[in-house]
Amino acid sequence: MQETIEILQKEWSFLNDGIQSAGHHYHSFIFSTIRNNAPELRTVILRSVDENSSSIHFHSDIRSKKIVDIEKNNSVGALFYDSSRRIQLRIQGLASVESNNDKTKKVWQSMRNESKLCYMGPFAPSSTMKSFLPNLPHNPLNKINQNDDKLGYSRFCRVKIVIKTIDWLQLHHKGHKRLLFKFEDKVRSKWIAS
Ligand SMILES: Cc1cc2nc3c(=O)[nH]c(=O)nc-3n(C[C@H](O)[C@H](O)[C@H](O)COP(=O)(O)O)c2cc1C
Repeated sequence: MQETIEILQKEWSFLNDGIQSAGHHYHSFIFSTIRNNAPELRTVILRSVDENSSSIHFHSDIRSKKIVDIEKNNSVGALFYDSSRRIQLRIQGLASVESNNDKTKKVWQSMRNESKLCYMGPFAPSSTMKSFLPNLPHNPLNKINQNDDKLGYSRFCRVKIVIKTIDWLQLHHKGHKRLLFKFEDKVRSKWIAS
C-alpha cells in the first residue's frame, strides 16, 4: 500500500511541475469529451493542479464546442504520457466550467497579453470562414485596450476536472506495471494486469 501511495504522490508532484515548464511531458494533455455518442479529443495545457480536491484545470473559450459537450455530458477523460519515465496516466473525471467569478478574474489578471489574445478575436471557435483570416483582435499586442481585455475576459473560462480514476501504467522490459487508483471517500488502489 505504501508503495502505491508513493507512486501517486510522485505523479501529483510531476503534474505540478508540468504547469510551470512548457518542455515538461505533463505540460499538455489530451482531453476527451463525448459528442453525439462519439469521442472528441484535443490537446490542452495543464494550468493548475489541486491534490486536496483531486482536480486538474485548463483554460478555454466558453464558446468552444468542448464546453457545449461538457454541459451535455460532464464525463471526460485526460491522457498524459511521460516518455522519459515511460509512464501513462489515463484519467476519468467529471468536468465543470467556471467563468466570471473571483477565481477566473484573478487568473485573467495574472495572464500575459500574449495569452489573452486568443480570446479577443472576431470569430467564435469552430465558426466557418470563407478563407483564412487570423482570429486575432484588430489592435496589435502593444495596443490592446480595456475594451479588448473586457471582451477577452467575457469569453474566458476555466475547466475543472475532478478525478474519479487514474489508470497508471509504467512500461518496463521486465513486465509493465499497472495500477488503478479510485478516488472515493479516500483513494483506493489495486494492481491490474498490463
Ligand atoms: C499544444 C496545444 C495546446 C492547446 N491548448 C489549449 C487549451 O489549453 N485550451 C483550449 O481550449 N484549447 C487548446 N488547444 C486547442 C484545442 O486542441 C482545440 O483545437 C480547440 O480548443 C477546439 O476544440 P473544441 O472544438 O473541441 O472545443 C491547444 C492546441 C494545441 C495544439
